Amino acid sequence: MLQIFTLTLAPSLDCATTTPRIYPEGKLRCTTPVFEPGGGGINVARAIVHLGGEASAIFPTGGPTGEHLAELLKQEGVGTDTVRTQDWTRQNLHVHADNSGEQYRFVMPGARLTESELEQLLDRVLKLPSGSILVISGSLPPGCDVDKLTHLVKQSQANGLRCIIDSSGPALDACLKLGSLALVKPNQNELSALIGRPLESPDDVYNAASALVKKGATERVVVSLGPQGALGVDHKGRIQFVPPPVKKMSTVGAGDSMVGAMALKLAAGAELDEMVRYGVAAGTAATLNHGTRLCTREDTQRLYDYILQSNMVSHDNITPK
Ligand SMILES: Nc1ncnc2c1ncn2[C@@H]1O[C@H](COP(=O)(O)OP(=O)(O)OP(=O)(O)O)[C@@H](O)[C@H]1O
Ligand SMILES: [Mg+2]
Repeated sequence: MLQIFTLTLAPSLDCATTTPRIYPEGKLRCTTPVFEPGGGGINVARAIVHLGGEASAIFPTGGPTGEHLAELLKQEGVGTDTVRTQDWTRQNLHVHADNSGEQYRFVMPGARLTESELEQLLDRVLKLPSGSILVISGSLPPGCDVDKLTHLVKQSQANGLRCIIDSSGPALDACLKLGSLALVKPNQNELSALIGRPLESPDDVYNAASALVKKGATERVVVSLGPQGALGVDHKGRIQFVPPPVKKMSTVGAGDSMVGAMALKLAAGAELDEMVRYGVAAGTAATLNHGTRLCTREDTQRLYDYILQSNMVSHDNITPK
């Protein structure tokens, strides 16, 4: 089993609360806040731990919010490797309005990273054992542009790390241009933005994903399709799994749960079909929970068993639906 590390450049301490209704001007009385760790890579590491695996999260921490974040992760059993920053770790605010059932998510800019803080994060990454998996997920904070990100990915690959990238827009584009990524997981819109045209049919989606594999940008692409599951493509072929219809509570955290599950399978040397099946199960498992809650191991296993029995497919003989 390979070791899994995640990198989050713009982590957050998320504060969730509930208020009877949202209206302007007056005071909105809220329930006692619940604090949760936030940020792409951090949630991927948490999902891995929820699924019974081990993962360490590398991220910058600043001020008391950063300390609180690191403490919450330790309590959940997630390994942490942090770099102190001048700027305080951001706090996001999630407010559930009881009357409408709507969820308002206020997202602050990530804490600024100085050149030296970014260098220290790169040092941490370059000390990881060669052959390990590095998941990079989440937005870029002020002080870290796409060039700095690609420098980090390039150095990581040169040191033998296998990079999984869950990103979008110019950051995803630039990482793919480096080539030889282990896995990327765009959703359909992100893939469409990447190639600069709408993806109208399942074959369009397959062709766009397959082109990335063929040109060596990445070894595998998994295009997540929301309730339609996901399409996986590697040099051997393609596979799609569709989850059963479920009573969806919230899709927040579905993508991170899926990436965590797939990183676990990749670390165990699983084939594409096994990886995508488990990823879809974990993504759908996350939708069974309210708010930002990630997948549970039990729900994931139940959905995995269902998908295993109901989707009788193999490499290269399935057309995406
Ligand atoms: N409405 C849904 N019903 C069932 N499963 C879902 C639903 N939405 C998402 N999923 C599951 O979660 C996986 C990832 O979801 P999605 O394609 O929405 O990723 P994403 O856009 O990256 O999500 P995120 O908003 O978390 O970044 C899907 O492949 C699927 O297994
Ligand atoms: Mg996503």
